[in-house]
Amino acid sequence: MDKNQIITLDEFIIHRQKDFPYASGELTGLLRDIGVAAKIVNREVNKAGLVNILGVDGNSNASGDEVQKLDMYANEKLITCLKNSGECCGIASEENEDFIPMPTVESKNAKYVVLFDPLDGSSNIDVNVSVGTIFSIFRRKSDANGDVTLEDFLQKGSEQVAAGYVLYGTSTILVYSTGRGVNGFTLDPSIGEFCLSHRDIKIPDRGNYYSVNQGYYLKFDVEMRRYIDHCSDMNLRLRYIGSMVSDIHRTLFQGGIFLYPNTRKYPQGKLRVLYECNPLAFIVEQAGGKAITCQLERILDLQATELHQRTTIVIGSPAMVDEMEEFVGRYTVVPT
Ligand code: AHG
Ligand code: MN
Ligand code: MN
Repeated sequence: MDKNQIITLDEFIIHRQKDFPYASGELTGLLRDIGVAAKIVNREVNKAGLVNILGVDGNSNASGDEVQKLDMYANEKLITCLKNSGECCGIASEENEDFIPMPTVESKNAKYVVLFDPLDGSSNIDVNVSVGTIFSIFRRKSDANGDVTLEDFLQKGSEQVAAGYVLYGTSTILVYSTGRGVNGFTLDPSIGEFCLSHRDIKIPDRGNYYSVNQGYYLKFDVEMRRYIDHCSDMNLRLRYIGSMVSDIHRTLFQGGIFLYPNTRKYPQGKLRVLYECNPLAFIVEQAGGKAITCQLERILDLQATELHQRTTIVIGSPAMVDEMEEFVGRYTVVPT
């Protein structure tokens, strides 16, 4: 293939469909729906500052108080795009208490559920810092002729058939995997298409960065504090954006480690298993990295029992996650 040839996201996923022997095109359609929603969200994210100043949406005041929150907007757009195409039978979102069954579309027998964090890092929007959308796709467990059930959403991350994220950064990039490597597509605003820009992404074995909210240092368990001290002793550079998706994106490309341990406020960890940790762990593992909890369980093996379950997470370059594991073995205080 000509190296200079532009491959759009649509072309790429249609081409890849051939990799799945029994694929009906449904998964391809879902990924395309997410791509469309991402373009719409991207447009709004890019004019977020203007909306607040100018009140473009017609019902806002000068301070922007009544402007619809962008994470709710992103949530609605994703739901609408997924509903219209009829390719999925249910969705679960970080922004909704319960899962939402999708109406059946005639002639379609939708067998996938989609879970997402519509806008991750949303506290960063007002200050022009990158945010993203994270998504996760499973094949339903329940009978295709009946209603979608909670068990369809509470599957282990290792059962994901696809996962990915869209980062609305200096440029907008969609990164996804269907379990056969990871590819990245950068949005070319001049033609409005995501174009293949990063083929078969591999995470470096180690990197020069560590990423953790060091402000909580004193609230972490001793083994985490020792590991963070070690990162500092090694002269690693601390980078913490406060949008997990952006921190993971950097870690994926430049190598490093991202940690969100338990604190007093979040004894189980803060980040959500289904909407944040599973999909990002799937991507990182597919790129050759590792993702575990502070108790050293593999993220993708966790069995969530509720939709909004949280977990601790340590994720990134494989050699660095292994090293952190050693620290846990060495410093964990066993209660007597
Ligand atoms: P969200 O915007 O979807 O609620 O997620 C925010 C998350 C995550 O993106 C980020 O890594 C983390 O919260 C930051 O938390 P702290 O401010 O506690 O470090
Ligand atoms: Mn989030
Ligand atoms: Mn969110």
